[in-house]
Amino acid sequence: MCGIVGYCGPKKASEVLLEGLKRLEYRGYDSAGICVSHKGSFETVKRKGKIKDLREIVPSNMVGNTGIGHTRWATHGEVTDENAHPHYDDSEKIVLVHNGIIENYQVIKKRLIAEGHTFLSDTDSEVISHLVATLYKGNLEVALRETVFLLKGTYGLAVMHKDNPDKIVGVRNGSPLVLGIGENEMFLASDVTAILAHTKQVIYLEDKEIVVITADSYKTFDFHEQELQKKIENIGWDLDQIEKDGYEFFMEKEINEQPESILRAIIGRTDVDGATGHLGGLNMTPAELLNIKRIQIVAAGTSYYAGMVGAYLLESIARIPASTELSSEVRYKNPVVQPDTLYFVVSQSGETADTLYAMRELQRKGGRVLGICNVVGSTIPRESDGGVYIHSGPEIAVASTKAFTSQITVFYILTLILARMRHLSYEAGLRLVSGLESVPEKIKEILADSGELKKIAVKYSKYENFLFLGRGLNYSVALEGALKLKEISYIHAEGYSSAEIKHGPIALINENTPSLFLVPDDDLRDKVINNIKEVKARKGKVIAVAVKGDDEIESIVDDVIWIPKAHSLMYPYLMVVPLQLFAFYMALELDRDVDQPRNLAKSVTVE
Ligand code: AGP
Repeated sequence: MCGIVGYCGPKKASEVLLEGLKRLEYRGYDSAGICVSHKGSFETVKRKGKIKDLREIVPSNMVGNTGIGHTRWATHGEVTDENAHPHYDDSEKIVLVHNGIIENYQVIKKRLIAEGHTFLSDTDSEVISHLVATLYKGNLEVALRETVFLLKGTYGLAVMHKDNPDKIVGVRNGSPLVLGIGENEMFLASDVTAILAHTKQVIYLEDKEIVVITADSYKTFDFHEQELQKKIENIGWDLDQIEKDGYEFFMEKEINEQPESILRAIIGRTDVDGATGHLGGLNMTPAELLNIKRIQIVAAGTSYYAGMVGAYLLESIARIPASTELSSEVRYKNPVVQPDTLYFVVSQSGETADTLYAMRELQRKGGRVLGICNVVGSTIPRESDGGVYIHSGPEIAVASTKAFTSQITVFYILTLILARMRHLSYEAGLRLVSGLESVPEKIKEILADSGELKKIAVKYSKYENFLFLGRGLNYSVALEGALKLKEISYIHAEGYSSAEIKHGPIALINENTPSLFLVPDDDLRDKVINNIKEVKARKGKVIAVAVKGDDEIESIVDDVIWIPKAHSLMYPYLMVVPLQLFAFYMALELDRDVDQPRNLAKSVTVE
């Protein structure tokens, strides 16, 4: 998604902006630009490509102390220098950067062209700068307040006007914007990672809010000119947490962080004495939790697959009917909301538009919606009716890994709580707690022994199609494994329930389409073996992720990725980590952009 940075202060703005945009790279982008205000004039440099390409054309004498910057993830208009932000109005007195989508931009653009405006880009964003110009009567924030009432869509904006070259006005509606408060310097950014090097004091803007900053002041307003007194919050992360810690790739770092990140999701939330768990933030009494008759989990992408694990656990262990729905489908399906249904939205970024809008639709219909998120202070946790942070730490790589295992950890603990409130015995609860607490060590074992897995990944890197197959609790893990391979290696991969392969997908099997089967030593193992044999009978190559000690499997399949034995409910953890590594090593072998795969964004804040 697009990234925005704004700066007012004593430093060289171009440096602050370029460094801030660099830290927003993980959001995904295809072009970038900055505008710096100096002695009443604006100087803009922008181009398609990466921040390093932009830096090459930033003149060393670009010395202004106020400026705005942008990384663009194209939605309207090709990836070109002209379509990169910032954008001016005709007079070049107004300049802005925008994150979001203006849905009624064509109507506005047509009217403005008829009134004599000249557009230099194909973007929706450029209409905003021209519109502000038509409403400007000497006060930029007043002009912006009038402008936003004419816009339909989502926008995070940072805007400057030549009349007040040391001032920036920010607007938030549907796309995140945070104010950073420094010593005689102020920052605007799409998220805190862009400004963490300078300050930990931030104010998270809400939708329909405006902020006006200069080097030594800030004011916040609503869209009706009402000045706001907003709470200053302290960011709990450190800069090193968003650095690579010696790894070449963020994804590699985040895969290897999982023993620690899972522990952070568990710590303080299991109760051995009561053989249960504790999740602060649910904002529900035990009686309210006991009255829940159904749970629906809403999410997108990897978070959706984590939700599938959660739904399976809640229904099979806590005996509460549970289902998952894709965020993008929920918003427009006119969902039936019932009072005894509890909703969870799952989102690492807390900014995914599909999930945010689904939550709002469910809340509009009276649904109680709890969030399971990672980024503290992001929109979903601030608007939900409560929820749980997964504490996985900043996840920078576009491909989600440690967030997935931390998300399912929250579902394991939620399942434990709800099951022990109902029928789960003390002993069974204890077994679940100990199974969960054993996971980090078992993942360390997998990570320490990934050499063979890397060889298998390299061996299969020439294939162009894969099937991923898992059953029961691991069906969603197969789906997640297929997504990982798709999104970072660009290889076509489909996930299926193992048994489903004979209902059609087996037609795809030949020697050029390998299948990767998840084979835990659980009650369904023998049935999965049958599915494997069906594939082998048709000359399909098979890789199995199997449990150490399974003596039969090696004679049936072509290659085995071994995992340690575990509590039968814990295999989603031990199966997903090899699939993350498999995708990572394949992408490396194919020389892909592992942390920022083509076309992808870390947080999809547009529909
Ligand atoms: C996962 O690897 C992808 N990057 C993507 O599917 C992601 O999970 C999805 O966009 C949801 O993001 P969220 O968890 O921030 O809502």
